[in-house]
Amino acid sequence: MARLQGRVALVTGASRGIGEAIARAMAAEGASVVITSRRQEGLDAAALRIRAEVAGAKVWPKACHVGRSSDRESLMTWIDHEVGRVDILVNNAGTNVHFGPMLEVTEAAWDKTFEVNLKGPWELSRAVAQRLIAADQGGSILNVSSVLGRGASPLQGVYGMTKAALISMTQTLALEWGGAGIRVNALAPGLIDTRLSAALTSSPELTSRFLQRAGVSRVGQPGDLAGAAVFLASDEAAYITGTTLDVDGGYTVG
Ligand SMILES: NC(=O)c1ccc[n+]([C@@H]2O[C@H](COP(=O)([O-])OP(=O)(O)OC[C@H]3O[C@@H](n4cnc5c(N)ncnc54)[C@H](OP(=O)(O)O)[C@@H]3O)[C@@H](O)[C@H]2O)c1
Repeated sequence: MARLQGRVALVTGASRGIGEAIARAMAAEGASVVITSRRQEGLDAAALRIRAEVAGAKVWPKACHVGRSSDRESLMTWIDHEVGRVDILVNNAGTNVHFGPMLEVTEAAWDKTFEVNLKGPWELSRAVAQRLIAADQGGSILNVSSVLGRGASPLQGVYGMTKAALISMTQTLALEWGGAGIRVNALAPGLIDTRLSAALTSSPELTSRFLQRAGVSRVGQPGDLAGAAVFLASDEAAYITGTTLDVDGGYTVG
């Protein structure tokens, strides 16, 4: 029996990278998947790839900028009418617009990073939880944080703050919503080979600094997050909530 059979998953930032890998893995485990990101054409291409790789996959590509309230509301209204429910929410979309010292952060960079990485996940979590509670139905929320949310992150400070706040939000919501049968967990990826991390992975010096601390001596691939995401979303993790699982090749303990 597929582990997510009959469930509907909403995965943000799923036109490529980690989000696409999670959406593909959830579809392979029997979930119907709504995939979102800002650009419809990227989503349509991702949906085609997932359908080509997962026989019978049910994938709905629907554009939504998670930092914009009007986009979030349109997405949830569309889901209410066209899909009917969300059992699993994966808050994966993220951005990292300021590389540099904190003293040089602009207000626009601060606002954008917080809106996409924190406010969007919060508002989508609230919208999904309200619907689950109204339907007297349990569910699972997964927030994609980062190892940079585990402590100081010099030169990526604003990004690190949003990822640390996501871990805090995960813990609070897990306690507030546990009684309603809604589990809330997070993933903290290390260095994963995607477009977002290209500035790091294209630098041999930065990559080797990461690898010196990690136990598994390679950069992660988006698919490395897939198994952890499916597990935490599934009933196998029925007694796991409020946790943040490091998927970082051992970087955090290094
Ligand atoms: N790669 C790493 O090393 C790493 C490490 C730790 C944590 N993470 C986290 O993992 C998550 C996924 O990142 P990734 O590495 O897979 O990056 P990626 O390959 O660049 O993918 C980012 C995805 O998010 C979408 N997106 C960006 N801004 C968005 C917005 N405002 N609203 C909706 N969708 C948006 C992008 O599509 P559009 O451009 O079409 O919007 C794309 O689908 C992020 O939360 C990131 O912080 C990544």
